[in-house]
Amino acid sequence: MRKPFIAGNWKMNMLNEPAVALAKAVAEAAKAHPGVEVAVAPPATSLAVVLDVLRDSPVAVATQNCHWESEGAFTGELSPEMIKDMGCSHVIIGHSERRQYFGETDETVNQKVHAALRAGLMLIVCIGETLEEREAAKTFEVLERQLRKGLAGLDDVALASVTIAYEPVWAIGTGLTATPEQAQEVHAKLRAWLGDLASEERAGQMRIQYGGSVKPSNVKELMSQPDIDGALVGGASLKPDSFAGILAGSYMS
Ligand code: PGA
Repeated sequence: MRKPFIAGNWKMNMLNEPAVALAKAVAEAAKAHPGVEVAVAPPATSLAVVLDVLRDSPVAVATQNCHWESEGAFTGELSPEMIKDMGCSHVIIGHSERRQYFGETDETVNQKVHAALRAGLMLIVCIGETLEEREAAKTFEVLERQLRKGLAGLDDVALASVTIAYEPVWAIGTGLTATPEQAQEVHAKLRAWLGDLASEERAGQMRIQYGGSVKPSNVKELMSQPDIDGALVGGASLKPDSFAGILAGSYMS
C-alpha cells in the first residue's frame, strides 16, 4: 500500500511573512491528516524561516531545484549538499518550468538526480509532455525518454528515494486538468517502465504524483485511480484552505 504524497510547489511566490503563516497552516493541516505524507517547496529565500516553523511537524521541506556539483564557481546555484545541510529532506528536479525557461535537459536532470542522491536527499522528478507533443501523439514517446534518461544509472536501492511527478505541461497553471482516465493511463505506463528499470516490487512501491491544476474539487477523482499516489500542487498550495482541502481529499484511494 503506497502512502499518498502531496507536495506544494510554491514556485517564485511568498515573501517571508506570508511564507511563515502558510507553513504554520500546512503544519496544522498535515497533523489533521496523518494518512498523507506532506511536503512544501518554498523559494530559497524562505527556506530558513519555513524550516524553523516546520521543525517539529510532519511536513518535509524541499527545494525547487539543485545543481549537480557539490560546490564550485556556479553563481546563483545551490548544491544538494547545501540543501541537505540546511535541513531540507527533498528536492524537486526537472520541473517543466525549469526545462522550458532555464534550459534543463534530460541530461542535466540525470546529473542532478545522481547528485541529489549522493547528498542523501529524497527526489521528486518531474516529467510531462507539451500540448504540441500530445496533439502529435508523442505523449508516450516523450515520457518514456524523459523517464529513462532522467533516471539512467539508478538501481533498485536508489529508486527507493525517488517519487515521479507526471505533470502534463498543458495542465500546469491553466485550469485544464488531465481527466482521471488520461492520467491513469499514463501512470500505469510509467509504472510499467519503472518495472523495467528496477524490480517489479520497487516499481510497485514507488509513488507517482500527478500535477497540473490539482485542486480540492478534482483531487478525489484523481486519487481514486489505482496508479495515482499523490499530487504536486502549484497554485492551490499557496492558499491554506485549498491545500488543506487537497490533503483531505487525497486518501480515499
Ligand atoms: P499548478 O502547478 O497546480 O498551478 O498547475 C503544478 C506544478 O507546476 O507543479
